[in-house]
Amino acid sequence: MEKRIAVLPGDGVGKEVTRGAVSILEAAGELFGHKFHFSYGAIGGEAIDDHGTPLPEHTLNLCKTSDAVLLGAVGGPKWDRLPGHIRPEKGLLKIRKELGLYANVRPVQYYSSISGVSPLRKDVVEGVDMVVVRELTGGLYFGKPSERTFQKGEAAAVDTLFYQKKEIERVIRYAFELASTRKGKVTSVDKANVLESSRMWRETAEEVAKEYPGVQLEHMLVDNAAMQLIKNPRQFDVLVTENMFGDILSDEASVLTGSLGMLPSASVSEEGPYLYEPIHGSAPDIAGMDAANPIAMILSAAMMLRMSFGLYAEAEAIENAVKQVLDAGSRTRDIALFGSGTVSTSAMIEEIKAALLDNEAIYNIMGAYA
Ligand code: IPM
Ligand code: MG
Repeated sequence: MEKRIAVLPGDGVGKEVTRGAVSILEAAGELFGHKFHFSYGAIGGEAIDDHGTPLPEHTLNLCKTSDAVLLGAVGGPKWDRLPGHIRPEKGLLKIRKELGLYANVRPVQYYSSISGVSPLRKDVVEGVDMVVVRELTGGLYFGKPSERTFQKGEAAAVDTLFYQKKEIERVIRYAFELASTRKGKVTSVDKANVLESSRMWRETAEEVAKEYPGVQLEHMLVDNAAMQLIKNPRQFDVLVTENMFGDILSDEASVLTGSLGMLPSASVSEEGPYLYEPIHGSAPDIAGMDAANPIAMILSAAMMLRMSFGLYAEAEAIENAVKQVLDAGSRTRDIALFGSGTVSTSAMIEEIKAALLDNEAIYNIMGAYA
């Protein structure tokens, strides 16, 4: 198989973890006999510095003509004082909108070997296996007006939570499709006791649910969901929600695994290409220190193999390599237990690559798919 992958490393640790994902993909390509062509594009702060805009036309065209997009992270203190429309984050929002990436899929997976890292008790987080499906191109992030105004001579500001029904419907349908391949339960999270947009969200969920008799639908208010996520996370299978709610709840959900550095994501569109990025940011405090956890990015690359290219065995080989390295006790700083040693970003990448190239493990996986 031959595929074109657009790589947008971005800022801060985005660059370090992206390098890791690319080298793991190259190794997987060699192992399984695929050719991946990587083309690089600028996004975020670096793009502002070099091109005066957080999402240059060239980058967008590159993405549109590729089979999939890998993105690191954007942002940093250097660009924090810029006006809203040229912030690094604007590049990320624009690429999501331009590529029509309406659903952001964030799996939250329990790893027994690092369960001690979570501040939550082991009996609470044990066996967690859920997916947050976050609406990504509408809601509070994109509604107009979004601006500074004056009211009665006083400074004021407004953001708008706007949805067309069809935008709600397609993301909820995605959640139902996903749940029907998993444990068969959708939790639709809203604030229907207060927000009109949430009442339409809830109604729409009910309508879509009629088409999926095999999937159970449950509604949950977002404040309660924030509590239930840490109180009883095993009750969740697929959680689907508005853009901003999903942003907040997915960071919270990462605590179940132990670290934000463990959570990958895939953003899907109607026509493709899909975009893959870790849910963490550019982590300016540790950028350039070879200390970031590359696992979220590497697992995002595995999701790309599975969801964009249908390479199931290859994706599983990477996921197994990650698990193997964690089981063997390798820890970047964010997942180290007090008193245990840590490895650098590059050492972690090398260890995962070595585990991937472990032929016996590969043989077992390929056998399972034969
Ligand atoms: C995320 C991030 C972004 C978001 C930021 C960097 C704009 O927090 O992907 O979750 O809010 O969507
Ligand atoms: Mg976020």
